[in-house]
Amino acid sequence: MCGIVGYAGARPATPILVRALRDLEYRGYDSAGIAVLGSADGEGLVITKRVGKIVNLESALDSSPGNEATVGIGHTRWATHGRPSDLNAHPHTSCGGEVVVIHNGIVENYAALRSALTARGHTFASETDTETIAHLMEERTRSGLPLLEALRLTIGELEGSHAIVAMSPSEPGAIVAARVGNAGGVVVGYGEGEMLVASDLAAILPHTQQVAFLASHQLARVDRGGAAYINGDGSPATVEPHRVPIDPVSALKGQYEHFMLKEIMEQPEALSDTIRSLVTIEPAGIHLPDLGAMSDRLSEVRRVILIGMGTSLHAAMVGRAFIERLSGVPAETDNASEFRYRDPVLGPGTLVVSVSQSGETVDVLEAMAVARAKQAMQITICNTEGAQTTRVAGGTVYTRAGLERGVASTKCFTTALVALYALALRMGEANGYLARERIAGHIQDLARLPDAVARVLQDHTPYRALANHFYDARHFLFLGRGLAFPVAMEGALKLKEISYIHAEGYAAGEMKHGPIALVDRSFPTVAVAPAHALRSKLVSNIEQIQARGGEVIVVASEGDDELAALADHAIFMPAVPEFVEPFVATVPLQCLSYYIALRRGCDVDQPRNLAKTVTVE
Ligand code: AGP
Repeated sequence: MCGIVGYAGARPATPILVRALRDLEYRGYDSAGIAVLGSADGEGLVITKRVGKIVNLESALDSSPGNEATVGIGHTRWATHGRPSDLNAHPHTSCGGEVVVIHNGIVENYAALRSALTARGHTFASETDTETIAHLMEERTRSGLPLLEALRLTIGELEGSHAIVAMSPSEPGAIVAARVGNAGGVVVGYGEGEMLVASDLAAILPHTQQVAFLASHQLARVDRGGAAYINGDGSPATVEPHRVPIDPVSALKGQYEHFMLKEIMEQPEALSDTIRSLVTIEPAGIHLPDLGAMSDRLSEVRRVILIGMGTSLHAAMVGRAFIERLSGVPAETDNASEFRYRDPVLGPGTLVVSVSQSGETVDVLEAMAVARAKQAMQITICNTEGAQTTRVAGGTVYTRAGLERGVASTKCFTTALVALYALALRMGEANGYLARERIAGHIQDLARLPDAVARVLQDHTPYRALANHFYDARHFLFLGRGLAFPVAMEGALKLKEISYIHAEGYAAGEMKHGPIALVDRSFPTVAVAPAHALRSKLVSNIEQIQARGGEVIVVASEGDDELAALADHAIFMPAVPEFVEPFVATVPLQCLSYYIALRRGCDVDQPRNLAKTVTVE
């Protein structure tokens, strides 16, 4: 979850590292630090670290030496071992100051390592698990081993998954990095006379689009002249750089106050780009260009299990309905972190579809490893070119949402629905379940989707007004049926993530089996009730809530005056075909959460305790 960056080149490292940490801050933001080698007055290691956001680090750097150093590493932390503090912030050094380390992951056997190191005379300055890595490496560099070899032997002693970056005054100009398991990626960036390493592309793209990704148990040593790679057994590794097509400009906030609002507003374009990359309208056709070997195997599929976490799991829930209804293949969903531990039965013909915008979520990667061990077919839905999930799966359906920076996922949810819709149509085509005309009809519906979403986003007045009315609520219930049930779940997740209001998403039919006991005047309900989502059943649910004094906001299709008259507040969305409803109904809920969080003065883009990419269990 932490952000990692390293720079070796000819330019001053500090501003490059600080800028990169800003670009990575969404990964963790409870403390940050940098270490640079070779200060203005010659040699030496200068480490500066501060609890809190990057701005605190920047203030400390103003009075710190090392401003002309051209090699350094930086880290923004999401605490796992040791509370957020200056001391626990990365980088960490060995007691002799010979090795400095930043790390993403958890050293699962750190307690045993720490007592063994202490017994051997090492003294610890922090409460972190990471510091053990610095001490273990120092034991090796002291015995004369080069830094890369010291790191290679050290990772053999660590339990868990890790991304590690280190440097040493004994090898000025060099940075070493290792990836072990699925704790997070290590990307190597190839600039002009300079090299970068980072946990993800956001830190690299402002400098170069030429990148290479480390696989698990690969290590790299970079200096300003290039990179060398080895495998965990010490043999040379071939890691080819390639050009990534993401536009760094999309990483900027532009006219918007928050990335979340920018990304909500970008949805018509993101949807359009994703649709265009997967379907043609005239002649009507589904083309999934990255399905690879899975292209020819879709007709073999007899059962589908969709997995994901958080918002991506909600997308998977919608995808399940798409797949069952458009391809006739039985489908189910599972939380990836449960799937991986329940020893799932995956018979022949089982396709596992994972959904992950980052492609780096550890629970998803571990679940995919289980599916691979059981020889299931795999397709992944991903927004990040070349991400880890895309290397494990037999085929990928990419979404084209551009970089998503807000911790609360918005455009990656709706674009993932496009990918799942297209996959379901392609499966229905491959197994003969869907006639050509029906496919063409669905493609027409998809083609009109970006406009429908744009209409929802035209006027924010209703969301602002509702936010003013409800911002001090302490609880919210979100209800939906059918395709609107996962939308209700997603609405509740968005609200709790960014406004810290307790919210529950329920299948509306479940309401009277318990949740209704909570309803009173201070417990508002959002009923997601577009025309096709078993609307008439929801009418009775709304009446039951109102009979108990609860206030109801309804999300209804335009023209549904009956529902609007019944509810206390109505948000209208364009009337669209059934399968397009979940896309369009989600957007008002994103806006409602955003404006409620804004009214409450919350940190919308960096909500407390969260990180954009969850690479620890
Ligand atoms: C979304 O708003 C959340 N921040 C979170 O639930 C997220 O969807 C989840 O961590 C999965 O991430 P992924 O799509 O990158 O795998």
